[in-house]
Amino acid sequence: MKRVGIIGVGEYLPKRVLTNADLEKMVDTSDEWITTRTGIKERRLAAKSEATSDLAIKAAKDALADAKLKPQDLDLIIVATITPDMPFPAVACLLQNALGAKDAICFDISAACAGFVYAITVAQQFIARGSARNALVVGAETLSAITDWQDRNTCVLFGDGAGAVVLAEAKSGGILSTYLGCNGSKADLLMVPGGGSRNPASAHTLGKRLHHIKMKGNEVFKLAVTIMAEAAQNVLKKAGLECKDIDLVIPHQANVRIIMAMAKKLNLAPEKIYLNIERRGNMSSASTATALCEAVRAGRIKRGDIILLDAFGAGLVWGACVIKWG
Ligand code: UT7
Repeated sequence: MKRVGIIGVGEYLPKRVLTNADLEKMVDTSDEWITTRTGIKERRLAAKSEATSDLAIKAAKDALADAKLKPQDLDLIIVATITPDMPFPAVACLLQNALGAKDAICFDISAACAGFVYAITVAQQFIARGSARNALVVGAETLSAITDWQDRNTCVLFGDGAGAVVLAEAKSGGILSTYLGCNGSKADLLMVPGGGSRNPASAHTLGKRLHHIKMKGNEVFKLAVTIMAEAAQNVLKKAGLECKDIDLVIPHQANVRIIMAMAKKLNLAPEKIYLNIERRGNMSSASTATALCEAVRAGRIKRGDIILLDAFGAGLVWGACVIKWG
């Protein structure tokens, strides 16, 4: 089995900024409530002309340039998304065409906010077993397209963006362990009920606003803290490491209170946690992807550092990954 590492990172954030002050004009909320309950100050929104593949293409090009690879060098593209341009074809196929990565096999992964970690884990298997040499993994979301802008319980939380990594055989460091999980009995806590085969699009589904995100936030919150802490402990155990060995945690950015409660359970100092939620909101699969890219570019991750990716989301699903930065 080959050792697999990340050889390039990239990101793209849409230009439009939506602040808490803007949201105060849209729903019955306040900057004070959003800031204290979530840690979010602003988020980015895609332009009307931008779909998820448009964000993914820009992040992918950024990551390929960072890895010093050409699109033709890719033999695998995986996009983690719950907001594809359309039900099919996969965003990864649109990305292959836009990049000219004609030799890459392509598919999407639907694992919500844990999608980026799920996709990294799958790509790692391909490379470790010699089925692929260079893989592009993208977490890209246009959550603004499925957000109910009349629902203050959810519309203050989400943003749009894309992050990408290129994976290849690692000369030094690399992925030390991965850990994935799912509890489908909690699927009803967070979903978009309309538009699929259960409730195909109709005047009824539109009238009931079933094409938007529905979330039992409080229940998700409590499970998230426990799940993220357990995922961290399990993935570290698989790597033969302990919490004290971690240099930086890149958590899913759903709520700063969830992240800090998880850190407390693990006895992790706040300075070991990378946060971008204040500027970005929750971008589902793109949250961990962009946070990793930002942390590398900000010099928060250095060669030899031990990094923990830790995410959970709708499903419920969760995933964690320990990487020794090479
Ligand atoms: O990405 C993965 C999945 N998502 C998450 O992990 C999100 C997890 N959940 C959360 O982050 C939190 O549960 C929320 C931020 C969604 C909500 O925070 P909370 O502390 O759990 O608040 P709550 O839902 O218990 O609501 C408290 C109060 C309610 O008022 P009443 O019933 O106590 O009078 C809500 O109506 O806050 C009210 N509220 C708001 N008030 C002002 C809910 N949303 C807002 C709002 N502005 N935007």
